Amino acid sequence: MKKIVIIMVISTMSFACSQKSKSIDEKVNELLSRMTLDEKIGQLVQYNGFWDATGPVPQESNSKRKYNDVRQGLVGSVLNVYGVEQVRKLQEIAVTQSRLGIPLIFGMDVIHGYKTAFPVPIAEAASWNMQTIEQAARISATEASAAGINWTFAPMLDVSRDPRWGRVMEGAGEDPYLTAQVGIAKIKGFQGTDLSHSQTIAACAKHFAGYGFPIAGRDYNTVDVSKVTLFNDILPPFKAAVENNVATVMNAFNVLNGVPCTGNSWLVRDVLKNTWNFKGFVVSDWGSIMEMATHGYAQDRYHAAQLAIEAGCDMDMESYAYRNDLKTLIEKGVVKESLIDDAVRRILRIKFEMGLFDNPYKYCDKEHEKVILQNTDYSKEALQSALEAIVLLKNEQSLLPLSKNQKNIAVIGALANDKDTPLGNWRAQAVKNSAVSVLEGISVYTNDYVYAQGALVHTNAAGFIHTVNINTTDKSGFAQAIAVAKKADVIIMVLGENCFQSGEARSRSDIGLPGVQQELLEAVYAVNRNIVLVLMNGRPLTIPWAGEHIPAIVEAWQLGQQSGNAIAQVLFGDYNPQGKLPMSFPRSVGQIPVYYNHLNTGRPEGFNKVFWSHYMDIENTPLYSFGHGLSYTTFAYSNIVLKETKKGEYTITAHITNTGNRTGTETPQLYIRDVVASVVRPVKELKGFTKVTLSPGESKQIEFKLQRADLGFYTETGKLNVEPGDFEIMIGSSSSTILLNTKLTLTE
Ligand code: NOJ
Repeated sequence: MKKIVIIMVISTMSFACSQKSKSIDEKVNELLSRMTLDEKIGQLVQYNGFWDATGPVPQESNSKRKYNDVRQGLVGSVLNVYGVEQVRKLQEIAVTQSRLGIPLIFGMDVIHGYKTAFPVPIAEAASWNMQTIEQAARISATEASAAGINWTFAPMLDVSRDPRWGRVMEGAGEDPYLTAQVGIAKIKGFQGTDLSHSQTIAACAKHFAGYGFPIAGRDYNTVDVSKVTLFNDILPPFKAAVENNVATVMNAFNVLNGVPCTGNSWLVRDVLKNTWNFKGFVVSDWGSIMEMATHGYAQDRYHAAQLAIEAGCDMDMESYAYRNDLKTLIEKGVVKESLIDDAVRRILRIKFEMGLFDNPYKYCDKEHEKVILQNTDYSKEALQSALEAIVLLKNEQSLLPLSKNQKNIAVIGALANDKDTPLGNWRAQAVKNSAVSVLEGISVYTNDYVYAQGALVHTNAAGFIHTVNINTTDKSGFAQAIAVAKKADVIIMVLGENCFQSGEARSRSDIGLPGVQQELLEAVYAVNRNIVLVLMNGRPLTIPWAGEHIPAIVEAWQLGQQSGNAIAQVLFGDYNPQGKLPMSFPRSVGQIPVYYNHLNTGRPEGFNKVFWSHYMDIENTPLYSFGHGLSYTTFAYSNIVLKETKKGEYTITAHITNTGNRTGTETPQLYIRDVVASVVRPVKELKGFTKVTLSPGESKQIEFKLQRADLGFYTETGKLNVEPGDFEIMIGSSSSTILLNTKLTLTE
């Protein structure tokens, strides 16, 4: 046995040596030529690890068989195996015991941190600060790679207009431009400039495509969108990811216009691989090949395997379809072997680019793992991310910030004392209950507060991956909360969602404050109106009553490990909030989808008193719109100037002045409207944003650039059209607060 291992190691090493001078494509082809059909198919198989599952576990799943398959060279990748010891153990089997010694690639959902928990992605996006987002991804990659992981299933680039969909927590909101920018920042952070560096990891743009548009906001539900919406609103972030060298792409679970994405040849082969020239590989989502049969698109698993490989799905995550059926499909001549070869080439290329053939254990250094995961403290960076993500939604009569000498505070709400919820869903290896709670954050400033839980958000977390039972009955804590509220000068109420009420499979039909929290809020308000409401949530909530009655509202999402410190710094004025919403907050579920970049309709507001596009019982606008976020200071906008610097290139400048008495950071946003086009265009489209920090009285010039192509749109055939005509150019502090306007006329 030992002898065989030694021979294999030597043969792998000599293979590696002979490879040094060759190009990656040459190395891939040479290796491919030595592979049996079984070994080729093996590269296309991804197994879940042996302990954590992030999807339904298939009946076939069996640890013994998995190890054996790795030994036989029948596995290309595993997910959810982490930690140097475990990764090395498995990698050793692949490298030293399989015939060709091809290393495995280790994937995991490193979504907003590996050990250090950063804010959940929708919160990160609220910072509109791409450097901060890139840095968080960089640190996540450093930590994950130290634990043996070399591939993350992130960023999620699903634009969504439906906050009922729990996975909005994992994306960057409703806008394709912002989502693309965030995606690029994350890809840069994860992958760096060199995939072979031992502290970078491959990224994965997911879910391709349309997954953020499930009918009625129910996860995994059908998606039926026009090609115009697909090309203009859903695909641009993915295109940007490909242009920025994302290594991999993941299929979406859903049916897109009648065809499951995993078997959608037009989407994956024509658009992604041919038109966009994507050179990396495509991984299915968990079981999504097999689910094509459940959708009613494939007859059975065998047929599903055929449809998936034909459509360009290169790797099978946990369907066992490629493992069990591809060989027969080829032997019977149903599937061409050249399709398998193409998929294998793509996977091997990434493995070569990662340097796994030069050193399969490059991510397996125990000492390094210890240094990074036990002895390196990233809390400063986590705090910065958390601070920048906080959005001040409302601040009547400048109730905030509180004075540092504020006496007699009541803190109410179970989430104020929750050290786990701020870590959010998809928390990788963040340690349970390790976040700084709001109470702990407040304690840094004062001990002059009384705490009352008021109401539980949930009663227990049980069942398969944290099924949350929302408390809808227990009001036993109300009396105490009301008693402390009565005596307080100011009340900080921390309400919202538990960490597992958003995320995958966490759709909600009612997105108000869960359980009895709304009743608690109203009961407290009845005895004392001086309330600062701090929201913790992974999605926009409907809070119309709070929006009308509560004087100050702070959106604090799920901010990661430094949550409580960040919130307290904002409450007591050591940090001036600067976040802006990446997604509209509806007034009511009945308005959904409500989003800023809608079309005008033929009957917009003002058209007629009765016969116009509206509701009889509610306004059309959201409660808080995309791009909204206040500061403790105020800003004035002036002097918009548009110049054509070169043919088809424009700069737009303006002045922003801090008119308040605190230093603050503003995020001016550039919107355009194509007034008349052959395909009707939205009333506003975000085309740029910038950040400007100003001390009181200070004024700075900001500048945006627009290229001719930025004025274009995609037709339903996917062609980019730039049509001459008039464009409104708008600069605002949110999508609903446009402060400066000008016009651009595009000639031929
Ligand atoms: C299913 C999710 O949809 C996907 O985003 C995730 O990466 C995989 N499970 C693996 O956990």
